[in-house]
Amino acid sequence: MQMLGLQDIQTAANILRAGGLVSFPTETVYGLGGDATNDKSVAKIYEAKGRPSFNPLIAHVCCLDMARSIADLDGLSLDLANQFWPGPMTLVATLKSKKISKLVTAGLDTIALRIPANPLARDLISAAGAPIAAPSANPSGQISPTTADHVRASLGDRIDAILDGGPCSVGVESTILRVLGDSIFCLRPGGLALEDVEGKLGVQVQKKAVTDDTAPNAPGQLTSHYAPNSGVRLGAAEPNEDELLLGFGPDIDGTLNLSPNGDPVEAAANLFRMLHEIDALATSLGKSGIAVAPIPDTGLGLAINDRLKRAAAPR
Ligand code: TXA
Ligand code: MG
Repeated sequence: MQMLGLQDIQTAANILRAGGLVSFPTETVYGLGGDATNDKSVAKIYEAKGRPSFNPLIAHVCCLDMARSIADLDGLSLDLANQFWPGPMTLVATLKSKKISKLVTAGLDTIALRIPANPLARDLISAAGAPIAAPSANPSGQISPTTADHVRASLGDRIDAILDGGPCSVGVESTILRVLGDSIFCLRPGGLALEDVEGKLGVQVQKKAVTDDTAPNAPGQLTSHYAPNSGVRLGAAEPNEDELLLGFGPDIDGTLNLSPNGDPVEAAANLFRMLHEIDALATSLGKSGIAVAPIPDTGLGLAINDRLKRAAAPR
C-alpha cells in the first residue's frame, strides 16, 4: 500500500485506471474509490469493506457535465446540483449511462451521484477520467474515517493506496436527496443541512420516505453501522462509573467535547474522530461504555443524531 500526497494525483489516477483501489479525501469522510465503470474494481470495493451485501454505492464525479452524462438531471434536481455542488450532497437520479457497472447501482435503475468539494478529490476523478464509486473507507460496520490514519489502520492492507489530504472538514457523510416531481425527499441526513436546502430552494424537504410504491429508499443503512467497541448511551447529562463522557456545549463537558460552544458544524467535523479516540481510551481504561451529551436536532445535528443512534443501536 502506498501513502500518496498532493503531488501524486497522477499516480493515484493511474492506479484507479488500472482497476486498483485508492482511498481519497472528500470534505465529508474518506472514500474507498474504484473505477465505477469497471466491474472488477467495484467488486474489490465490496471485498475490501467486507460488506455483507451489495448495497448501491455513490458515484463521485468531477463536474456537472460528467454527472449529466450518467444520469438525468433536470428540474429540481438540476436546481439542487447548481446550488449545492460541489458539496456534501448526493442526488439519486435516473440512470442513463450504459457504462456504469451494475454493481455500483446494485441493479437499480437509479444512481447516486456527488461532486465532492475537496479539490483533491475532483482532481483525482478528473485525472482518472471516469466516475469513481466510493463508499466510506472503513470496514463494514465500523466508524467512518475522517483522517488518512483512520483508513490506514483499518484498511491499509486491503487497498493499493491512500491519498492523504488531511482531516475532513465536514466530518459526516453527504446528505442524500431524491427528487420526485415537485417533492424533495431526504434519504439520509448528512453534511448539508436541510434548512439550507429549504432556505435556498423554497421547497420543504420530506424527511421520511413515503411508504407507497414510489417511496424512494436508501438501502443498506444498517442500524448497527458506525459501531464503536464500547456501548453507547445517548442523551446523557453525566457518565456512570464504567463510562467516559463525550460532551457537547458549555454545560456538559466530558472527557472530550464535540463542540464546547455548542456548534453543530464543529461537532460534525469532530464526531467520527472523537468517537475513534474516546472508544480507544475507554478500552484502554477498562471502561465499557461511552455516554454522549444531548445534541439538538437542528442543522447538522440531525445527521449527528442519526449516526449516534446507529452507534447506540443494539448489536
Ligand atoms: O459523504 C459520503 O456520501 C461518503 C463519501 C465517501 O462521499 N460516501 C458514503 O457512501 O457515505 P456509502 O456507500 O457509505 O453510502 C451510500 C449510500 C447508501 O446509504 C446507499 O443506500 C445510498 O447511498 N444509495 C446509493 N445508491 C442509491 C440509489 N440508487 N438509491 C437510493 N440510495 C442509494
Ligand atoms: Mg459508510
